[in-house]
Amino acid sequence: MRSYFYPLALASVVACTSTPPQTAPASTSLAAPIPAATPLVTEKAMVVSAHPEATRVGIEILRKGGNAYDAAVAVQFALAVVLPAAGNIGGGGFVLYRGADGSEGALDFRETAPAAATRDMYLDAQGNIIPNLSTLGHRAAGVPGTVAGMVELHRKLGKLPWAEVVQPAVELAATGVKLTEKEAAGLNNTNFITTTIVVGQHFEHIEPTPGVRAEISVPEFKQAPNTYKRADRAWQAGDTIRHKYLAATLSRIRDLGSAGFYEGQTADFILAEMQRGNGLITKADLKSYQPRWRTPLHGKYRGHVVLAFPPPSSGGVALLQMLQMLEPYNLRKAGWHSPQATHWLTEAERRVYADRATYLGDPDFGKVPVARLLDNKYNQQRMTSTLPYRATASAQVTSGTGLPGYESDQTTHYSVVDAAGNAVSCTTTLNGAYGSKVVVAGAGFLLNNEMDDFSSKPGTPNAYGLVGGTANAIAPGKRMLSSMTPTIFTKNGKLALVVGTPGGSTIITSVLQASINILDYGMNAQQAVAAPRLHHQWLPDQIDVEAGALLPAAEDTLRARGYTLKPRSPWGRVEVIRVLPGGRLEGGADPRGDDTAGGY
Ligand code: GLY
Repeated sequence: MRSYFYPLALASVVACTSTPPQTAPASTSLAAPIPAATPLVTEKAMVVSAHPEATRVGIEILRKGGNAYDAAVAVQFALAVVLPAAGNIGGGGFVLYRGADGSEGALDFRETAPAAATRDMYLDAQGNIIPNLSTLGHRAAGVPGTVAGMVELHRKLGKLPWAEVVQPAVELAATGVKLTEKEAAGLNNTNFITTTIVVGQHFEHIEPTPGVRAEISVPEFKQAPNTYKRADRAWQAGDTIRHKYLAATLSRIRDLGSAGFYEGQTADFILAEMQRGNGLITKADLKSYQPRWRTPLHGKYRGHVVLAFPPPSSGGVALLQMLQMLEPYNLRKAGWHSPQATHWLTEAERRVYADRATYLGDPDFGKVPVARLLDNKYNQQRMTSTLPYRATASAQVTSGTGLPGYESDQTTHYSVVDAAGNAVSCTTTLNGAYGSKVVVAGAGFLLNNEMDDFSSKPGTPNAYGLVGGTANAIAPGKRMLSSMTPTIFTKNGKLALVVGTPGGSTIITSVLQASINILDYGMNAQQAVAAPRLHHQWLPDQIDVEAGALLPAAEDTLRARGYTLKPRSPWGRVEVIRVLPGGRLEGGADPRGDDTAGGY
């Protein structure tokens, strides 16, 4: 049975000096009830990931004497097997870490645009976007960064031998993984592309090549023509998939490191796949891929230091901006998801996403004004245009066009803390669910469709409804802007909170909400991730509302203030580890997925 506790406060609202139009609030609280939820608490170490098998692998590595970085590498490769929708070796991501000694770092293994990519590669002769070209098929894929990123993380910080941390994923792939109900549904609902050729400006899907049929080996069943589909019936929970070709690829990575992916047989398979589907990635693109160490961003919130990921993530900058904008407001007193708290949250989000669209992109390809965006005076000034009881229309905040729909938002996050106190916050992605839907024949892994995270045409929204400008235009070798927001909080020089989530454009607001759920509203880690969420991203000008996030009367009040509310099915899979006073660890694994916290 669901039980509730009622958060603080019949609230007051903050006096403000703005101009009408506005109406005084009908009620001063209307806070939503916070569902009860029990977190896992462990003494020393914890892993929280999107799949029980990946969490198990991470814990096993820690128990064997591996550190948080070894466990992170093992979890990353395990997710590539057990969570094909988002776990990956054909994608990219960001690792943010904080060592027990206070050291810190941000490793960017984001995909890059192939050398043959051009700014207008997804536009037709009239300058219009060619539907699906940046999201589906071989041309949607950026040069994968995951394997190089894991090799670099392990080289710098790992303790156990490389082969030992990759081996669990090889075994998972070779022996097979039982599908959960959610994964079975995901596979059944996806049309995988085995071969796609671009003819002029149209897609033409052709029958798969014979080699593709044996992509994954399902001994009991004849393989269906579409990779990851079975011929006789739909997938069901409990069915086992044995990834024969992925196991061989992971073995090459185990034995050869980066060369096991970017060179030799795996590179040959990728190249053949590109040639079959008219993709752009070449052997030279693969060989020249390099992850990058970046300097983490720092902010402050309610007595904590916030460690955040810099560009090409937009998430770190945006999160720190929103925290600056919100800190002056008494969210706790206003009440959780009360109209007033929702109003402040939304107005901050609206302004920050407008900045994101204009200013953020790959810092290696142009100046990103990070210092200016993180100037507290700038952010306070941005909030002065907020009306106390009235929505500001997004069109007045700045200009933009297009009202997009939503697509899948499959990325994944894992948080790890080891017994010494080293912490890893890693978000990794194929972009959409199952990425480009292209499996590399003979190598058994999916390629990303990360090219859609570029701004194909300034002002026109991508799959997440995000608009962008020239800062995020396509260029050869450039990294596409990301919303991934791996984040770590410290207090008084000690680790306090590790947090992150998938969710495309919603990542930033989900990380924000999980953080303020704990820091402002006193929720435990499990409540913080389970609590229903809200999301606003400037355009479209609407608040997405998960069921239970707002009381009906609060919705009425918000509508009266000029907000458009849109019910939306659940999003995000937030994974949190919180350090409790005394040093024990409290885990929050998002109940929207198969997410699992484990530890000892
Ligand atoms: N592909 C989702 C992101 O990087 O934001």
